[in-house]
Amino acid sequence: MRELAKFYITTPIYYVNDKPHIGHAYTTIAADVIARWHRLKGEEVFFLTGTDEHGEKAEQAAKKEGKTPKEFVDGIVDQYIRIWKELNISYDYFIRTSDPSHEKIVKQLVEKIYKNGDIYKGYYEGWYCVPDETFWTDLQLKDGKCPECGRDVKKIKEESYFFKLSKYQDKLLEFYKKNPGFLSPKFRSKEILNRVEDGLKDVSITRTTIKWAVPFPMDEKHTLYVWIDALINYISALGWPDGKRFKEFWPADIHLIGKEINWFHSVIWPALLFSAGIEPPKKVFAHGWWTIDGKKISKSLGNAIDPVALAKKYSLDAFRYALLREMPLGDDGDFSEKTLAVRLNNELAAELGNLLNRAVTIAEKYDGAIEGSPELESSLNVDKIDEAMERINTFDALSEIFLFIKAANKYVNDKEPWKLKGKELGGVLYNLLESLRIISILISPFTPGTSEKINAQLGVKAGALEDCKFGKHAYKVKKGEYLFKKIEN
Ligand code: MSP
Repeated sequence: MRELAKFYITTPIYYVNDKPHIGHAYTTIAADVIARWHRLKGEEVFFLTGTDEHGEKAEQAAKKEGKTPKEFVDGIVDQYIRIWKELNISYDYFIRTSDPSHEKIVKQLVEKIYKNGDIYKGYYEGWYCVPDETFWTDLQLKDGKCPECGRDVKKIKEESYFFKLSKYQDKLLEFYKKNPGFLSPKFRSKEILNRVEDGLKDVSITRTTIKWAVPFPMDEKHTLYVWIDALINYISALGWPDGKRFKEFWPADIHLIGKEINWFHSVIWPALLFSAGIEPPKKVFAHGWWTIDGKKISKSLGNAIDPVALAKKYSLDAFRYALLREMPLGDDGDFSEKTLAVRLNNELAAELGNLLNRAVTIAEKYDGAIEGSPELESSLNVDKIDEAMERINTFDALSEIFLFIKAANKYVNDKEPWKLKGKELGGVLYNLLESLRIISILISPFTPGTSEKINAQLGVKAGALEDCKFGKHAYKVKKGEYLFKKIEN
């Protein structure tokens, strides 16, 4: 039997101080689309998401509600799981950093790094941004505030263990050079390269004041810095070191993340892995932010948007589609409900919905043979769509899919099938139903529910990427509801 290609994709594990907003939904939906695409290609996919539950931020949020950290995070995790279900996220595993199996692996990995001589005891004096769970030096602060999010930082002065990140400068630079696809997208790699070339400081990896954390195995007075605990989720979920999944799926094909956590993923994570003798992931893809008036959308900046409310108002698939249609995954984009409504009305309802409606209305009344020559085939370029998806450019992929949808609509206008009969009509219907069958496959990672509806109206089964060519198929056309309802906004 032929071995299936393996594909492992991850999202960041999200902090659990509050329920997910549109930014978290964006990464998770994008990862879902990529995972579904690779399943369409017949690959064996492992899609991981989860929650980052330790640290000062969760500890503080729990205290505010008079709960223990565990009670508090359990409640938020339930909301994450429910919301991912509502957004039709097809993850294979949900990891929680409070899982005992994760904690055990974290300790084991840290012990290994310690034994390799890469952890030493020192003294940390500097600043800490609690919302970002990030250490900063005096020089890095911007007007005394966190340079990342602009919020207050607090002074920390305590004994700490350090990881020898500085030791890995050359190795990292050599690795980036040998693996040009690792730092993605390309335009963002320069920033990381410059910083690494400038020299690396060792990182403080333990705290003595945080109780809600994984104990540092070599010294019980200390707990592990939440970021070290969190990064290890990508291998603990696979059962490192001996788990079957680890052997099958590591190294990860893509860690999909937001750009503000690129440093942790592109520098600290591979260095930790080098130290433990584990291969680094193949790619870290840092996408841009959804903003409002140029400001990052975030709960603490007070401009969060509820993804479930939008999915309810505009339909889930319109929401999923609009998120990935606005800009290439690497760029920032200003969020507007108006644009979402325009895309729903003009692209999904008027182009895709209308094409299906016109085709099934005519096909239902026709009882001759549906066959002819594939006249629309030349407007379809599946390789180009796949190539865009391989570049993680969902925007280009959707543009190409919609060029084909447009071509099919133009074909209807040109052929005027309502005026045709017999063989001629059979030939036009052949082109339209085949196109719709193929469109349904191509668009299914973005709008899975819509593809199910198209398949039901055509009377065909869900296909794979290799079925995206004109061929011979049997249909049982049954007109159903409109795919999308237009909305006034
Ligand atoms: N817990 C860490 C990640 C640890 S991964 C080992 C964390 N969590 S978070 O809850 O703050 O989630 C951050 C992620 O949410 C970002 O990397 C990004 O994927 C997503 N987004 C949050 N706000 C966003 C926008 N406004 N726009 C786009 N995505 C953003 O950081």
